[in-house]
Amino acid sequence: MAQIIDGKAIAADIRQELQTDVAEVEKALGRPPGLNLLLVGEDPASQVYVRNKAKDCAEVGIASVVQRLPATTSQAEVLALISQWNADDSVDGILVQLPLPKHIDEHRVLEAIDPRKDADGFHPMNAGKLMIGLEGFVPCTPAGVVEMLRRSKIDTQGKHIVVVGRSNIVGKPLAILLAQKHAMGNATVTICHTGTPDIAVHTRMADIVVAAVGRPDTITADHVRDGAVVVDVGMNRVDLPDGKSKLVGDVSYAEVAAKASHITPVPGGVGPMTRAMLLVNTVEAARRRVRELQGAQQPS
Ligand SMILES: NC(=O)c1ccc[n+]([C@@H]2O[C@H](COP(=O)([O-])OP(=O)(O)OC[C@H]3O[C@@H](n4cnc5c(N)ncnc54)[C@H](OP(=O)(O)O)[C@@H]3O)[C@@H](O)[C@H]2O)c1
Repeated sequence: MAQIIDGKAIAADIRQELQTDVAEVEKALGRPPGLNLLLVGEDPASQVYVRNKAKDCAEVGIASVVQRLPATTSQAEVLALISQWNADDSVDGILVQLPLPKHIDEHRVLEAIDPRKDADGFHPMNAGKLMIGLEGFVPCTPAGVVEMLRRSKIDTQGKHIVVVGRSNIVGKPLAILLAQKHAMGNATVTICHTGTPDIAVHTRMADIVVAAVGRPDTITADHVRDGAVVVDVGMNRVDLPDGKSKLVGDVSYAEVAAKASHITPVPGGVGPMTRAMLLVNTVEAARRRVRELQGAQQPS
């Protein structure tokens, strides 16, 4: 039976550790790190996500501001707000909750965020930096998966990792991170997607399988070899016969857990790690600001 990788507990450790970093930033800047969150519209899931993110900030001492705007808000109004936050020295991180209403161009908005305040790591500048191995901001879910493996002492070096899914926010950046020539990468990475004729051919050869698909039961016992590590990024709400619903991942948990060496649960696996990495990115943005200011004060 697989060992469960407890993302909830690891995320709690990270939040605990961050409190020291937050205190250091506060000492240097005279204010805590600040994260501004923008929610446009009334999507119920987005409202929960934003509320949780603000709650996480409060727990570690990050000052968060949640701006809620109606679904009728124009793109120009959103861009004007981002521009105001970019110029505001008390804001270290900016997060725009996705999806945005259809009349707003998501790419335009994400590109308007100052890359130095890009807490979600979605700005093309940060995507480019990730690609070439420069320091930037890494999207929270891929960063969370890597951190979770690191803290669980699961070595990726020289391993064959199959990532199922190639979205810009999960699959692709995660594959790049894991293939990067650094200690928590250096893996041989295969990316599968809807164009892959038979994903099981690839996943069965993998030391580590990551499912980031958005479809329940995509990874079954037939997809994994004995002793593989299985990371389930999926978050799918499925209806139950009694009219209720529950959250499941992309992996057929019970049968895969019987074969794997390690597995992440849903909920309680990658989800809490994603939330924790948003805090890490925000505090890191503030620390970079401290370094910038200290550098500016150095005599030339
Ligand atoms: N735990 C967390 O914190 C967290 C964070 C983000 C996302 N998620 C969840 O993770 C899942 C993926 O999110 P996402 O944003 O990456 O989704 P996405 O943008 O819809 O991308 C899904 C990817 O999976 C591929 N795919 C879909 N069906 C497939 C199949 N049958 N076989 C092989 N590949 C298939 C798609 O291929 P194509 O490119 O060919 O279409 C696409 O690349 C969702 O359940 C989402 O809710 C969880």
